[in-house]
Amino acid sequence: MKIGVFDSGLGGLAIAQSIIRRLPEFDYLYLGDTKRVPYGNRSQSTIHEFVGEALSYLFDQDCQLVILACNTASAESLRKSQQEYLPVNYPDRRVLGVLIPAVEAALEISEGGTLAVIATASTVESGAYEKEVQRQSPLNHFLSIAAPLLVPLVENDGVKYIQPVLADYLQPLNDRNIDGLILGCTHYCLIKQVIREMVACPVISQDEVVPDKLASYLDRHPEITCRLSRGGTRSYRVTDLSPGYEDMVRRLAGEPLELQRVEI
Ligand code: DGL
Repeated sequence: MKIGVFDSGLGGLAIAQSIIRRLPEFDYLYLGDTKRVPYGNRSQSTIHEFVGEALSYLFDQDCQLVILACNTASAESLRKSQQEYLPVNYPDRRVLGVLIPAVEAALEISEGGTLAVIATASTVESGAYEKEVQRQSPLNHFLSIAAPLLVPLVENDGVKYIQPVLADYLQPLNDRNIDGLILGCTHYCLIKQVIREMVACPVISQDEVVPDKLASYLDRHPEITCRLSRGGTRSYRVTDLSPGYEDMVRRLAGEPLELQRVEI
């Protein structure tokens, strides 16, 4: 059985490729819901509905384990999917998100300090990062910044225009003593160097933490790992193929990839 990686669109390719580099032996199926992206400004009920459809598709395609690489999906739907959808529909499968690994990595460098996250409007509104930080370490202070303009800039080759937009979003960090900044959105992996040059604190980028956390999860869960096939295959599927998607894939994945359009 395969490892599924789900994202609202193509941004999750940055995380998928970093997982594949770390754990190349497994078989992977990536699904990007490009027909309905962006999720970042939608309601919780809509996001949960879309995630349920994506999970059903990935489990029907023989995924044992699905990583919700999309922060917005993880924030709005992970817990509900684990507690309500899985037990009824696929009790022997697993869904993992990207918030917990990011928070764990942030707390490793700033136990008891002040953390910040920059993310989509929906992720910030959900309060999911804040709740996770409080759950893992109630002593930490937390600051959330919604940055709705970053995803369209990254997707439309607008990184050259990103500096003033980022300076504005990151302004609240200047007035506080921040110990770590979590990049809480798939696309921000692509602009982590620019952000690192603009802030004084350590920056937690999910492409750097999720692969190791997944490897450690697989070590701790042999009952899941023993079901995973090791053929080294990869399949990249999307719900819509827009003209010129190749450039975006190359930017987000760091390499050209063949995408297949599917109905979910
Ligand atoms: N993939 C989403 C995330 O990580 C960003 C794009 C979207 O808004 O759907 O939050």
